[in-house]
Amino acid sequence: MIEKIIPIAENHYSNGVAAIPSNFEAPVGLVTDTLKRPLRDLRISVTDRCNFRCVYCMPKDVFDKDHVFLPKNSLLSLEEMARFARLAVTHGVEKIRLTGGEPLLRKNLEKLVEMLSALKTPDGRELDLTLTTNGSLLAKKAQALKDAGLKRVTVSLDSLDDTTFKLMNDVDFPVAEVLHGIDVAHRVGIGPIKINMVVKKGINGQDIVPMARHFKGSPFILRFIEYMDVGATNGWKMGEVIPSAEVVRRIRAEMALEEIAPNYTGETSVRWRYQDDSGEIGVISSVTQAFCHSCTRARLSTEGKLHTCLFATGGHDLRALMRGGGSDEEISTAIAHIWRARGDRYSELRSAMTEGLLPTVKKIEMSYIGG
Ligand code: GTP
Ligand code: 5AD
Ligand code: SF4
Ligand code: SF4
Repeated sequence: MIEKIIPIAENHYSNGVAAIPSNFEAPVGLVTDTLKRPLRDLRISVTDRCNFRCVYCMPKDVFDKDHVFLPKNSLLSLEEMARFARLAVTHGVEKIRLTGGEPLLRKNLEKLVEMLSALKTPDGRELDLTLTTNGSLLAKKAQALKDAGLKRVTVSLDSLDDTTFKLMNDVDFPVAEVLHGIDVAHRVGIGPIKINMVVKKGINGQDIVPMARHFKGSPFILRFIEYMDVGATNGWKMGEVIPSAEVVRRIRAEMALEEIAPNYTGETSVRWRYQDDSGEIGVISSVTQAFCHSCTRARLSTEGKLHTCLFATGGHDLRALMRGGGSDEEISTAIAHIWRARGDRYSELRSAMTEGLLPTVKKIEMSYIGG
């Protein structure tokens, strides 16, 4: 018997109707999913647009001038995002990451940062509030973001060589401007700053060691990310992945490293410190060493769909519930209900399958669901 139906506007990124059974008690407090994983992180995608066309994320031939991005009226307002976040915090969310697309393209983003930075966990702690950016607008926006309460940022940077970087971003964007953005963010006091490098064989593999050398001894934490089969447009092949073990091997051949403990349970990155105390690097091995067993991440898309996995093929339409006059209690119940039903572990399943046997259902693009 179903008592309340969360209305779902059907589209190709929708899971269909999410139904709350009548015997479902409106839960307060912490929730865990079917694999006993708590809800800890919320990633909010604030726009599906980006001024880059990274080959592994928004390939130009698909995201061309005819590509239709979300219309303005379908975007969650900043207030709707903040409302959702406030309710998710009551269920255990302690960390919020703003993503996109490129989040700094969203108008008045600092207003959202201000609303989110005012939230507290039920036991009164501040949230870990951060964002992932390509760095292109960081120099311009860093001070306003800092003033609004942003604590730290992660900046994507795939090479220090302009030719290679431009091969990756595909819009001729120069390295120097990203480095300048990182510098300004550091100077205004945002930190720790992490640098994400997606490694794609045949394009930027030769930059692994130069990137490590460049950031060694700096205040910035460089992380190498295995190229993933996210979305349906990047033409991913296993042969284009450089496994993290190989990344570490190449760096270790020149600089002494030792593995160190994670900062928190479920950290995506495996950490390595330089033995001469000149900082640390991280490797994110979602392809060769999946970390689904400890995945506590929920994702809210720009148009208000709640996704329980980066590789989801659909999401739950929370915007319809909010705009249909849903009370805080109803939205809170929906969040708990969706999380309790969660059983996603795509990357682990992918590891167990051969490439040819992977599901053929169209996965959601990273630029839509958030990185
Ligand atoms: P910290 O909060 O600094 O620890 O960052 P994080 O580990 O959450 O990392 P970040 O958000 O910078 O993510 C880095 C990259 O890891 C992303 O761009 C993705 O490529 C990958 N990643 C992050 N979360 C997930 C996830 O839930 N599943 C998979 N498969 N990959 C993920
Ligand atoms: N594989 C791995 N990481 C990706 N990102 C986007 N697409 C991919 C992919 N196919 C990540 C990058 C970038 C963030 C926004 O998303 O780390 O820093
Ligand atoms: Fe834009 Fe980031 Fe995707 Fe590159 S990885 S296209 S910068 S959203
Ligand atoms: Fe979490 Fe899905 Fe990524 Fe696994 S594949 S770590 S379940 S988001």
